[in-house]
Amino acid sequence: MRKMLCTIHVLDDHVANQIAAGEVVERPSSVVKELVENALDAGATRVQLTIEDGGKSLIRIVDNGCGMNPQDALLSLKRHATSKVKCATDLQTIATLGFRGEALPSIRSVARFQLRTRTHDAVEGIQISADGDQEPVREPIGCSAGTDISVRDLFFNVPARRKFLRRDSTEIQRISELINQMALGWPGVHFSLQHNGRKVSDYPSDSGLKDRIRAVLGKKVCQQLIPVKMQLGEHKVAGYAGTPSFNRPNNRGLFTFINGRFIRDRVLQHAVTQAYGPLLERGRYPVCVLYLNLPYDALDVNVHPAKSEVRFVNSGSIHSLMERAIKLSLADAPNVLSIDSDEAVAGKLNLDQLPSFPVGGNTEPEPTAHGFAPHNKPPADAEQFEFLSQLAHRYWVCKKGDSLCLINQHALGQQIHLNELRKQWAQGAIVSQRLLFPARVTLPGTLAAVADSHNEECRKLGFELEHFGGDDWVLSTLPQVLAESGRDGSEALMTLLKQGARELNSNNPGTLLASMACHAAWQQGDDVSVHDAEMALARLETCHSTSNCTHSQTVMTIISAEEIEAWMERT
Ligand SMILES: Nc1ncnc2c1ncn2[C@@H]1O[C@H](COP(=O)(O)OP(=O)(O)OP(=O)(O)O)[C@@H](O)[C@H]1O
Ligand SMILES: [Mg+2]
Repeated sequence: MRKMLCTIHVLDDHVANQIAAGEVVERPSSVVKELVENALDAGATRVQLTIEDGGKSLIRIVDNGCGMNPQDALLSLKRHATSKVKCATDLQTIATLGFRGEALPSIRSVARFQLRTRTHDAVEGIQISADGDQEPVREPIGCSAGTDISVRDLFFNVPARRKFLRRDSTEIQRISELINQMALGWPGVHFSLQHNGRKVSDYPSDSGLKDRIRAVLGKKVCQQLIPVKMQLGEHKVAGYAGTPSFNRPNNRGLFTFINGRFIRDRVLQHAVTQAYGPLLERGRYPVCVLYLNLPYDALDVNVHPAKSEVRFVNSGSIHSLMERAIKLSLADAPNVLSIDSDEAVAGKLNLDQLPSFPVGGNTEPEPTAHGFAPHNKPPADAEQFEFLSQLAHRYWVCKKGDSLCLINQHALGQQIHLNELRKQWAQGAIVSQRLLFPARVTLPGTLAAVADSHNEECRKLGFELEHFGGDDWVLSTLPQVLAESGRDGSEALMTLLKQGARELNSNNPGTLLASMACHAAWQQGDDVSVHDAEMALARLETCHSTSNCTHSQTVMTIISAEEIEAWMERT
């Protein structure tokens, strides 16, 4: 075993900054992200970026935000210096994109850094230059109001990091994608990006959201968008969802913003795919630009050093708002195939009466004192599941915090479907989906008798059956969970009819729901894509119970780091 040094000392600022930079500054696009976020937090309406050599030689950002006075400018390079939070309780209602007070000191510690800034009421600005850990040099300077930051020779003093940078074309591609996301999130701000003297993008601010989407995603996308707008209490969603026919093989056309922050979140992605349901083939994704405005205490943004993840206090309600809002818009849109939109229609609101609300948080920040009933804080173990791999075509290896989770894919699928079916049954009936091509099923005498005498009960369970002649019946709807799973619905129908009249008569057809859930679930031996697994895990997080299975199979086994350690020590 390696000998541990036992003299403890506090790291000096420079080392601490470099450690923080390891988390915050991964590549040029992460520098751009932090600096643009600072500009937006400073209220800028114009953000100009000049990049050289993929950001390796130069990243320069000029904004017309509030600027800083000389004292603040010097302080801004110190670790944990921020104007955005003051005390621990502020962390629960973060209204700005930044709040950690780490970005500038981290960036400055790994580059040749220059800051010029002036507040609007000052006659003179300040210039501060600092190369890596060198003492900052400051001097008064005449400059425009706002802030102008240049970051040269990124990682000049961290060769190991520099080695991992990609080709210039890849780095600028990432920066350009990031600016596109920012531009979609903040349509009221003028963004421009230049690389090696050539214009990459220029998004003026004088246009509305639709124009911004057209500028960023193209005219073709813009022609295929359906407006989405719904408000439930203080939770609001607005934006556009693409028509189902305009879909893509990956989820890169899915832009979701929460209070102005671009977030790729599994709960939101799952809500979107659920909303499209059968309108999209498996493995296809819609194009959506959606803005969620939530009370600041409805989510925790202090989850990841790069602030690219959030945790919802109540992910179930966010999921359901997103799903319903999109479903409703699709159901109302002309030329979109009709979907079973009962659920959407049940929650239909008069959208015209809704107050308009800012998208992307680009205007007035929402007041923090919003009178929103505080939700319960998530339980301490509410970390998300992280899918690692599928094992033997039947188990998933996942991570949750410091624990290892082994999940039985069939039992998990069954549990998720069963939860859904129970919920639907409690609301009156199983949600069904009309088949594009009704299926012909042959029912032997005894099953035909059950189908005949319990036709209405079968319909309530999602199977619409009609006698065709002889032993043949026509099946025109399936329970939605089955239709979406792509499995043979007639097999599930047979099982249901075999279980007989007694269960069908019951007000609580638990066994029938369980058998439907079992049919709809992944079977052992099924290959499951990473995306599908992540979606299921996101749903699992919105389920209440995860420990039982309707079969005798265990859904999940959790092995803590301590247990692993105990094993290791035993050997
Ligand atoms: N472009 C800017 N215009 C005006 N003030 C700025 C600008 N950039 C930074 N600042 C000031 O400098 C402070 C430090 O910035 P820094 O990015 O390091 O931290 P932060 O934004 O507060 O938090 P985070 O580390 O999460 O980004 C900010 O809180 C802000 O007051
Ligand atoms: Mg910042």
